[in-house]
Amino acid sequence: MITTNYLVIGSGIAGLTFSVKMAEKFSNKKIVIITKTSEDESNTKYAQGGVAIVLNDEKDSFKKHIQDTLIAGDGLCNKEVVEMVIKEGPKRFKELIVWGANFDLDTSGNFDLGKEGGHSEYRVAHHKDVTGAEIERALLARAHKLKNITILPHHFAIDLVTNHHLIDKNPKENVCYGAYIFNQKTETIFTIKADSTLLASGGIGRVYGHTTNPVIATGDGVAMAYRAKAKIKDMEFIQFHPTALYEPEGESSFLISEAVRGFGAYLRNKKGNRFMLDYDDRAELASRDIVSQSIDNELKKTGDTHVFLDCTHLDINTFKKHFPNIYQKCKENHIAIETDWIPVVPASHYLCGGIEVNMDGKTSVNNLFACGECTRTGLHGANRLASNSLLEALVYAHNIFKYLSTHDCEAIEIDIPNWNDDGTSIAKEHVLIQHNLRQLQALMRDYVGIVRSNNRLKKAIKHLDLIYNEIEDFYKKSKITTPLCELRNMINVAHLIISQSINRKENKGGYYNIDNNQN
Ligand code: FAD
Ligand code: SIN
Repeated sequence: MITTNYLVIGSGIAGLTFSVKMAEKFSNKKIVIITKTSEDESNTKYAQGGVAIVLNDEKDSFKKHIQDTLIAGDGLCNKEVVEMVIKEGPKRFKELIVWGANFDLDTSGNFDLGKEGGHSEYRVAHHKDVTGAEIERALLARAHKLKNITILPHHFAIDLVTNHHLIDKNPKENVCYGAYIFNQKTETIFTIKADSTLLASGGIGRVYGHTTNPVIATGDGVAMAYRAKAKIKDMEFIQFHPTALYEPEGESSFLISEAVRGFGAYLRNKKGNRFMLDYDDRAELASRDIVSQSIDNELKKTGDTHVFLDCTHLDINTFKKHFPNIYQKCKENHIAIETDWIPVVPASHYLCGGIEVNMDGKTSVNNLFACGECTRTGLHGANRLASNSLLEALVYAHNIFKYLSTHDCEAIEIDIPNWNDDGTSIAKEHVLIQHNLRQLQALMRDYVGIVRSNNRLKKAIKHLDLIYNEIEDFYKKSKITTPLCELRNMINVAHLIISQSINRKENKGGYYNIDNNQN
């Protein structure tokens, strides 16, 4: 067993920002970060567009950014949260720069700000088209300098330790005491006991198979919090990014940043029509929910598998400077963007809901905090405004740091039983995991996609029950493996998405059910 002051699950922007702040201010506090693959692998690493932030006071204003966020969220944002995040944003962004993250400047030495869907102004600070990789690099470098931070890569959090694991249960309140951790290299399970635990475990994209997210995005934090009886909200609001590169065989889809449309690219159908003009006055720069739903409609009308992003009219030299990674990836796929249109299709991208937290990042379980994509803060409402996610993680990591700086969670003297795997054996049937994973992803894609219906949701929940029963049974009998735990978590997440979709009777933002009345 390891004992620490703070256990942080996840080494993306949320977990690292909190850890760096805490470790710098309190050299006597110990922080253990566990992360399930290499320390930099995360959704953060793949962020392209940038951080939405009001830096240009002449043209932009907090009021405009707040307004754009509220419009994108379609009436379901918490206005107080929106105002807090957007006003705090610039301070938190400047800390990133102090920590060594580089952002592009224009020829006058000001930040070179990009534009994305739903933004009324140029306000997206970026590092070429690899902003997330630059932020991750800078945060890890800073964390490595701090002696009171220990990072444990290839360690997988299986479950939070809460009252129901204890021998002497405390029936009055639900408290988190740390987590059970699986060391993937030694294949052993141990306990980390912590005064406070922070879930910073990221998104859920893999539940859909076809996603812009890397393979780590299996919703583990949301599932663990759900099993620990934390409140989980707004799971029906899955954001589909309109422009993932169309790769017929591929599952993980390379993203073509929305900033490319901000730079002037057009969406066209196979016939060459700029169809977005028929759907929204903002055309290609309408918010993401509208663009994805419009593409879905075009594809259903035409029977085509994808639409196209046309950059052929753009200044190619400037394009290459701003989007070198996208340019290169297209080239590798034999797409010369000077002359060819890029085939694109929507893919699951971001979870707008998640573990419910208040403005201090507190969940409904005592001593359990959450930050970043795994949370539902109220900022995004029914649809996240582009590039508001990195911003949200920075601001909430700071809020949690501030709260814990003044409200020390007391070390709890309690005996935590070791992980008990009596009666389990090494699973021989790995095919069962693969088979059920494919079934789950197909089910979510076909029945719980951009456009839903009551009938399809009912079918989905029935089918999911069968997968759930098979895997729960398998889990009870088997020794822990990462793929098994991830599948179990994805099943929990799928259940939350489908059941909360069934409960939503009004279409809002990214949620569209053909049986609901139009709003
Ligand atoms: P992550 O960065 O995903 O980190 C999660 C961490 O938790 C990882 O280290 C993971 O290994 C670890 N973890 C998960 N489960 C476990 C477990 N069971 N045990 C141990 N460790 C675990 N947002 C923007 O604002 N601007 C953008 O330009 C932008 N572009 C994007 C482009 C792409 C392709 C993608 C996929 C997302 C983009 N986003 C963007 C969204 C944004 O990147 C993410 O929402 C944000 O980075 C999430 O940060 P996080 O720290 O919450 O989670
Ligand atoms: C993108 O660059 O299009 C992604 C931005 C985001 O998800 O916020």
